[in-house]
Amino acid sequence: MTAQHGIDLERLRGMQARGEKIACLTVYDAGFTRVLEAAGVDMFIIGDSLGMVVQGHDTTLPVSVDDMVYHAANVARVGHHAYRVVDLPAGSYDTPQQALANARRLMDEGGAHMVKLEGGTARAEVVRNLTGNGIPVCGHVGLLPQSVQAYGGYRVQGRELAEATAILADARALQAAGAGLLVIECVPAALGEEITTAVSIPTIGIGAGPGCDGQVLVLYDMLGISRGKRPRFVRDFLAGQDTVEAAIRAYVAAVKSGDYPQAEHSY
Ligand code: KIV
Repeated sequence: MTAQHGIDLERLRGMQARGEKIACLTVYDAGFTRVLEAAGVDMFIIGDSLGMVVQGHDTTLPVSVDDMVYHAANVARVGHHAYRVVDLPAGSYDTPQQALANARRLMDEGGAHMVKLEGGTARAEVVRNLTGNGIPVCGHVGLLPQSVQAYGGYRVQGRELAEATAILADARALQAAGAGLLVIECVPAALGEEITTAVSIPTIGIGAGPGCDGQVLVLYDMLGISRGKRPRFVRDFLAGQDTVEAAIRAYVAAVKSGDYPQAEHSY
């Protein structure tokens, strides 16, 4: 896969330094990639949420490395501008060696600029091995959808002091291990802001309040086409717009201006 000139990690860091919010969305295919790039999205997460919104599973757990390579390659084939972060799915990074082999597939066959994995301190050795071998890594703390069975459901993390302290320690451990970006999912807004202040790498929040350096939503959620109850942190950006591209432009504008997320979208 040939490298494309577009937004790189340096540019994302520059945005962070200038206080310009990073507008990120998930994407899984070529058609939406074109629309999202035309609408000015800075960063894509080719997320294992595809297991739920594309494949129809109840969790992200059945998603395979082959699935991630397939969808990431569909995005990379037409993507020229946005920075592409691709998820390592559940069970694909249990050891440093396994993680490295699978991350190389996401980079080489899937055209990833960076890989993402869930977990903090417990994953530090895996992250160190990946970054030590030249693979950029995005960490993911707070609610970890790949651990949904351990939680017994999707719920806000870090409401209690001990839990919040552990999540903050996870964020620091990931940065120390070499992570270049950090997704923070479903934590109180105050904790999202505290983590963002505590680490120097850009943070991308989803249900983590307005204090993060950028925001991400699952594309299908922000277009109002996901099944089930809409989570508190999601705004339906298609409502009142004539086209999908206009909805995405409205999202980018709202993130950049600080109009989204509001207190009503935060915990
Ligand atoms: O899989 C996914 O969509 C994610 C989101 C939290 C960005 O990881």
